[in-house]
Amino acid sequence: MQVTINQSRLELVEGDVTAQDTEAIVNAANPTLLGGGGVDGAIHRAAGPQLLEECRTLGGCQTGDAKITKGYRLKAKHVVHTVGPVYRRDGERAVELLASAYRRSLEVTSENNVRSVSFPSISTGAYGYPMEEAAAIALQTAINYLESHTDIELVRFVLFGRRTYQVYEKALKEILAHD
Ligand code: APR
Repeated sequence: MQVTINQSRLELVEGDVTAQDTEAIVNAANPTLLGGGGVDGAIHRAAGPQLLEECRTLGGCQTGDAKITKGYRLKAKHVVHTVGPVYRRDGERAVELLASAYRRSLEVTSENNVRSVSFPSISTGAYGYPMEEAAAIALQTAINYLESHTDIELVRFVLFGRRTYQVYEKALKEILAHD
């Protein structure tokens, strides 16, 4: 699914975020930035050991924040590492922390003059965020950002599996129906 938001394109695709050819891809990391499983593990495997070497120099990342590195062996030139909320731990702050993870990732993308970026579904795996709620927060945050920033040409959500894709597609249609 593809829509135009202001002067940018917002895309939903089913697939693997490490395979994307956007200038940057976003990593669903943890505060240590020293790797993990899921998306984090897949990105570090695909980028190679130099990614971890650079991550070691960053001094970690707070929940809701984002930091950029090179992409090394990935097609993407950059990796934007962000840390989403742990759903059960962060309680009512989880909504704002998830929105912040997306917003800060987009801000860091803009600050580095990166024109295209691919997101996985942050916090909806090991961090336990319910997919439907997370999809609405992710998409609304991206739409709000693109409505007031024209520098990023493409924001792609790369959804792992058909069910996740369908949840995001339904969420996007609901947001567009009310805009
Ligand atoms: N491409 C796109 N999406 C993926 C991929 C992939 N290669 N692999 C997994 N996913 C999906 C999962 O299905 C889930 O919907 O990404 C979403 C996020 O899942 P996680 O990777 O578990 O990320 P998160 O829930 O944010 O938990 C982060 O897990 O890997 C550790 O170090 C990481 O501690 C951190 C925690």
